[in-house]
Amino acid sequence: MTTTRTFTISPVQIPTSIESADAADFIAAIEVRNLVEAHSYGTDELSYSPAEILPRWLDPHKKHWMFVAWLDGRIVGRGCIDALLDEPDTCWLDLRVLPEYRRLGIGTALAQRVEDAAREDGRTKLIVYAVSAGSSGEKLPSPTGFGSVPRQNPEVRFLLGRGYSLEQVERGSRLALPVDNVELAERLAASAAAAGPDYRLHEWSGRVPARWLADMAALYTAMSTEEPSAGLEEPESVWTPERITQTEELQAGDGRISLFAVVEHLPTGRLCGLTVLSVPAESSRVVSQEDTLVMPAHRGHRLGTWMKIANLRQLQRDHPGHSAITTFNAEENRPMLDVNEAVGFLPMGYEGAWKKLLGVPES
Ligand SMILES: CC(C)(COP(=O)(O)OP(=O)(O)OC[C@H]1O[C@@H](n2cnc3c(N)ncnc32)[C@H](O)[C@@H]1OP(=O)(O)O)[C@@H](O)C(=O)NCCC(=O)NCCS
Repeated sequence: MTTTRTFTISPVQIPTSIESADAADFIAAIEVRNLVEAHSYGTDELSYSPAEILPRWLDPHKKHWMFVAWLDGRIVGRGCIDALLDEPDTCWLDLRVLPEYRRLGIGTALAQRVEDAAREDGRTKLIVYAVSAGSSGEKLPSPTGFGSVPRQNPEVRFLLGRGYSLEQVERGSRLALPVDNVELAERLAASAAAAGPDYRLHEWSGRVPARWLADMAALYTAMSTEEPSAGLEEPESVWTPERITQTEELQAGDGRISLFAVVEHLPTGRLCGLTVLSVPAESSRVVSQEDTLVMPAHRGHRLGTWMKIANLRQLQRDHPGHSAITTFNAEENRPMLDVNEAVGFLPMGYEGAWKKLLGVPES
């Protein structure tokens, strides 16, 4: 039911810095992101500060649009688009309305606005990730055969009503810290032994060392297509050493530090796997698991477990006190879930990954 309460939608100018005089709307929109995420997952552990999120919006390899909904003199919803500059078809949308302002037509108006902007930019494939809280009613199964979302949930009804199709289910997982250090040492030794003499582990924190920039660019590029993306068929995102350096410079002031564990294949001298933890400055906040990848030719040697355990040891040794790590994986990505479950990750929630093709009639 749409009531007569009047709201307005306006675009947001992305500030160059959080300290800028024009940053207030961007900051309020990030606050909406955090409040809705906390409402959906039942925890504020997945919150990011505006300073941590701004670098993503200033990435020169991407295009972004942000719209906000105003009601009662405040920002109560946001609709965003994220797209690659070097790939013309796909874009990722994000729509959020504060819980107390739902069922007023705001989500519909924001969705219309971002879909129009995507269409005007020539985008034909829209992808949306939406958190779906568990519920006992009828389920909409993922076409991958792994996972489902409750058919009567608001976001499910909303997206189905707008012509989106469910393509995949993602699992959010959480590892409570600390993990026992003796157990970690034993598992590290076992993984190293299983990996054998052809592989060497390297670790660092902060910026990628110059000697590994080209290999890391190749790993990041592979990461964009190696993660199972089911019917979403998410496009390749090409990384270069320059893009890594630019990203590091953009993130320099955000207060977070990245911890890396990588594996070198000694016969070729090339890196064949990476894993990254993103650590916030405050130990009261949780750590975020970022990319993990073992190149296809090197799978089956326990390299994934080896890197993850080493990364975890580095975290507990150099940045102790964080209560947990969170990570997100496709529900059908059994090899990755196996590694995570073996480390101790437990499910904390599920997200539907949805797709809409523009120009295709809605059924
Ligand atoms: C999904 C979301 C954006 C919808 O925002 P909203 O402002 O409540 O949406 P609208 O008022 O425009 O609702 C449009 C239609 O969606 C469906 N819908 C939305 N919420 C619903 C609910 N709780 N129960 C049943 N249907 C619902 C209805 O068909 C509704 O039309 P109606 O009110 O005329 O019956 C909002 O619930 C939200 O922010 N959820 C969390 C974030 C999220 O999941 N985003 C992903 C969607 S991209």
